[in-house]
Amino acid sequence: MQRNHNHPNQFAMVWIPGINELPMSVMISRESGKAAFTVRKHGHASTGLFNVKVGQQIGVRGPYGNSFDLKQGKLLLVGGGTGLVPMMRLLTFLKPDDDVTLLIGAKSKDEVFFEDLANSLLDKNSHQVIVSTDDGTYGERGYVTEVVKKLVSEIRFNAVYTCGPEIMMYKTVQLAHSKGLFVQASLERMMKCGVGICGSCCVGEDLVCRDGTIFDGPHLLSNKEFGHFHRNKAGILENY
Ligand SMILES: Cc1cc2nc3c(=O)[nH]c(=O)nc-3n(C[C@H](O)[C@H](O)[C@H](O)COP(=O)(O)OP(=O)(O)OC[C@H]3O[C@@H](n4cnc5c(N)ncnc54)[C@H](O)[C@@H]3O)c2cc1C
Ligand code: FES
Repeated sequence: MQRNHNHPNQFAMVWIPGINELPMSVMISRESGKAAFTVRKHGHASTGLFNVKVGQQIGVRGPYGNSFDLKQGKLLLVGGGTGLVPMMRLLTFLKPDDDVTLLIGAKSKDEVFFEDLANSLLDKNSHQVIVSTDDGTYGERGYVTEVVKKLVSEIRFNAVYTCGPEIMMYKTVQLAHSKGLFVQASLERMMKCGVGICGSCCVGEDLVCRDGTIFDGPHLLSNKEFGHFHRNKAGILENY
């Protein structure tokens, strides 16, 4: 399949020799013409990637996945955790007259990142970057979806885009859809092949790597697994 390699969103499969291969969102780079990855040190494989030294080799295949449908006007972006990576990339595709609200959700202050980067990427736009932390140690107190609820009841956004923890995306999609707003979410699922062969990333009938990772809100809300179940490494359905 021929793919345009300059789309907002998209991921790559990153091989850490001797350890594993992981899906990683393509991140913007300070160096023109280059891409980057942002790694959150978590389990075995991401720690292996995190510890890679300059000069050490890794394997990268991709980019894979579709892209957000770019709308113009008043835009609401909602990101949490490493779901902020595709949001940063999306910011670089927006038009100068777009009016952008970016919501960053985090558990606490020490998990807030990309706030300064977002403000600098948006310096030519009318914009606001709002941070909320679950424990109230920085920005608004509480779940970011409470801010989404307030904003979508006050402002008629032309589009809502979200990526992050699935419960956050589920609530965001529900809230936006209930107001009749265009909404898309970028899903994360267990990925092995990344190209539609192994089936490990299925959400109902959809394969996230092949059919997504971005899906329209109404399509997601018609899928009984979205926001409720995901598959573990053995392919077994688990509750969120
Ligand atoms: C499309 C996509 C983009 C992603 N982008 C980023 C990113 O930009 N930065 C980042 O740090 N992380 C990203 N992740 C998550 C990353 O791929 C790993 O899931 C995460 O780093 C934990 O892996 P681990 O093996 O260290 O942890 P483990 O402790 O081995 O696993 C912890 C959990 O991570 C998830 N996971 C593990 N292996 C995979 C896999 N092969 N595919 C999907 N999920 C897995 C599972 O939910 C698992 O329960 C992305 C995932 C997807 C699907
Ligand atoms: S990861 Fe194999 S089908 Fe999606």
